[in-house]
Amino acid sequence: MGPWLLLAAACALWATPGEAHSACRAPPHLWCSSKEIAQACQAEQLCARKAAHRASPPVSVQLYYESLCPACRGFLSNQLFPTWVMLNEILNVTLVPYGNAQERKAEGKWHFDCQHGQEECQGNMMEACLIHLLGDLDLYFPVIFCMESGSDVVGNLLPCLKVYAPELSLANVTACVNGDLGSQLMHQNAQRTDALKPPHKYVPWIVINGKHTEVLQSLAMEALFRMVCNLYQGEPPSACQGQLPATPSPSPPNICLRS
Ligand SMILES: *[C@@H]1O[C@H](CO)[C@@H](O)[C@H](O)[C@H]1NC(C)=O
Ligand SMILES: *[C@@H]1O[C@H](CO)[C@@H](O)[C@H](O)[C@H]1NC(C)=O
Repeated sequence: MGPWLLLAAACALWATPGEAHSACRAPPHLWCSSKEIAQACQAEQLCARKAAHRASPPVSVQLYYESLCPACRGFLSNQLFPTWVMLNEILNVTLVPYGNAQERKAEGKWHFDCQHGQEECQGNMMEACLIHLLGDLDLYFPVIFCMESGSDVVGNLLPCLKVYAPELSLANVTACVNGDLGSQLMHQNAQRTDALKPPHKYVPWIVINGKHTEVLQSLAMEALFRMVCNLYQGEPPSACQGQLPATPSPSPPNICLRS
């Protein structure tokens, strides 16, 4: 492009915002609701990018974990949650709290034994109940992140609920945790975990787009954000462009082995 052409282009850019302002009367969240509005608001490029995102399936990350395993807490708090905050448009997260627990049936009821003791079973159950009662990742992931990133996972339930899901009362969660619903939900998580192929050998156990391999696992543990950007098939969101944030490598021990 010659200098005059550049200048002309610059003038054209310079001249349009005034017109756009007068024609664009829609608030930003409606800019892509029709072609006319997108044009009037000069959001056509932005809307094309949004449409491209919707056209490609999101990268799916399933996390099989247990509430008190330090490596699970580290991965969830330092990798998965921040990556989801930045890339939620292109990322489908599934949380399955159960991990290396074991179940047995006695007198018609399921009983659970957890690697880090009864408190871990309680934490798993609370999180399974939050997932069920809140139903939407946008609502329950912040509560679970808040619990897992604090000093006392189980003790953090109430303060985390108050901040991130005040519409759900502690009584509702407690009723689920202590009732049949909680043990049904945990039994479902046990079945999903036991159905893993290959079977899990440790947690956190990460499944990317339906697959678990040692290579995918270590890429995810080292730099999940970069991995999601690289795997996404559509137009990458702006967060993926430029310098990708470097993530600290996990400090050992970075897994909880299945016994
Ligand atoms: C997200 O993943 C779950 C399985 O983990 C799947 O059932 C669901 O359809 C996926 N959602 C999208 C939008 O791809
Ligand atoms: C919480 O429990 C109360 C009383 O059992 C019930 O009426 C209400 O619908 C529950 N709320 C939720 C969000 O489950």
